[in-house]
Amino acid sequence: MSRELTFHVFRYDPNVTEIEPRMQEYRLREVDGLSLFIALNLIREEQDPTLKFDFVCRAAICGSCGMLINGRPGLACKTLTSTLPSSITLHPLPVFRMIGDLAVDTGSWFRRVAEQTGSWIHTDKPFNPHDPEERMDNSTALEIHELERCIECGCCIAGCGTANIREDFVGAAALLRISRFMIDPRDDRGVERFFEVVGTDEGIFGCMGLMACEDLCPKEIPLQRQLAYVRRKLAMAALGRKI
Ligand code: SF4
Ligand code: F3S
Ligand code: FES
Repeated sequence: MSRELTFHVFRYDPNVTEIEPRMQEYRLREVDGLSLFIALNLIREEQDPTLKFDFVCRAAICGSCGMLINGRPGLACKTLTSTLPSSITLHPLPVFRMIGDLAVDTGSWFRRVAEQTGSWIHTDKPFNPHDPEERMDNSTALEIHELERCIECGCCIAGCGTANIREDFVGAAALLRISRFMIDPRDDRGVERFFEVVGTDEGIFGCMGLMACEDLCPKEIPLQRQLAYVRRKLAMAALGRKI
């Protein structure tokens, strides 16, 4: 006999402030291979068409379905109900602007932080589309490829104590991105310029080493290693400057 699942889902519409935030209960019979993605869609189709949540890819690629699953940030499309108890509590990710119920606006947050940290290759070389592709050694290319796997789901930000209490902290995903540009030979910024960007309390020196970011990253990106790399490089730059 399959389990009956009880979902306790956070409900709130920031455009209808006269209705207080509340928890709403839904029940669903569990079937084999049921993911939270399928469960929420069944609930919306069969029980409550007003329920808001985000999904695009259903394959842990787009990063839009992050939510708090029994208090822990995770991807709903990647989470099978069989890995959870029969009572499942869902909240929206904290830190990000709420759109409604389980949907939050991670896009504006990531865009703001990308602009703040100059999250693109900086070079004075003129661009000629007819030039051959610039070469780099294989090991550097593979390392960059590994760090490019971030899907900007926001789980590492929502689970970080610092990001939860400090709006100005750029968070692990942005520091990861900076580390990716630091190793990219096409980026002309030297360590001094990177220091100006994230050698601050809003950047790498605001990270208290809480480590939840790496534990929660659904893509298993080595965040601790990359944060340590940025910290070491910038601390050495600071010592060189006798700060
Ligand atoms: Fe999500 Fe991991 Fe990227 Fe953070 S680093 S946004 S947890 S994929
Ligand atoms: Fe936060 Fe990760 Fe640093 S959880 S404090 S960014 S080690
Ligand atoms: Fe795209 Fe979950 S729906 S990551």
